[in-house]
Amino acid sequence: TFVVTDNCIACKYTDCVSVCPVDCFYEGENMLVIDPEECIDCGVCEPECPADAIRADTEEGMEPWIAFNEKYAKIWPVITEAKDPLPEADDMDGQANKLETHFS
Ligand code: SF4
Ligand code: F3S
Repeated sequence: TFVVTDNCIACKYTDCVSVCPVDCFYEGENMLVIDPEECIDCGVCEPECPADAIRADTEEGMEPWIAFNEKYAKIWPVITEAKDPLPEADDMDGQANKLETHFS
């Protein structure tokens, strides 16, 4: 499966939502996550993210993000249509420690 990681936070470009064939993205205030039970592992979302925030869960160091996506996909509402990015998206793209500053 694929997971959304740190650099989505405070950007939320939502290009990923437009291409997902099974609508398995879920939306929080600051970022999206993928429901691992619904993702069919097609991989089409990964190159679409302008912030390069989507990763295969087989990549090294993904364990915290696998747990994060699993947890919040059960809590947040589904998002099925792309929308405008967050206003600060271009400035926040690439910033460090977004998880600590937005989820603590
Ligand atoms: Fe959707 Fe495919 Fe991305 Fe999974 S890998 S979230 S099914 S677009
Ligand atoms: Fe986030 Fe990238 Fe989608 S920034 S909303 S994972 S296109």
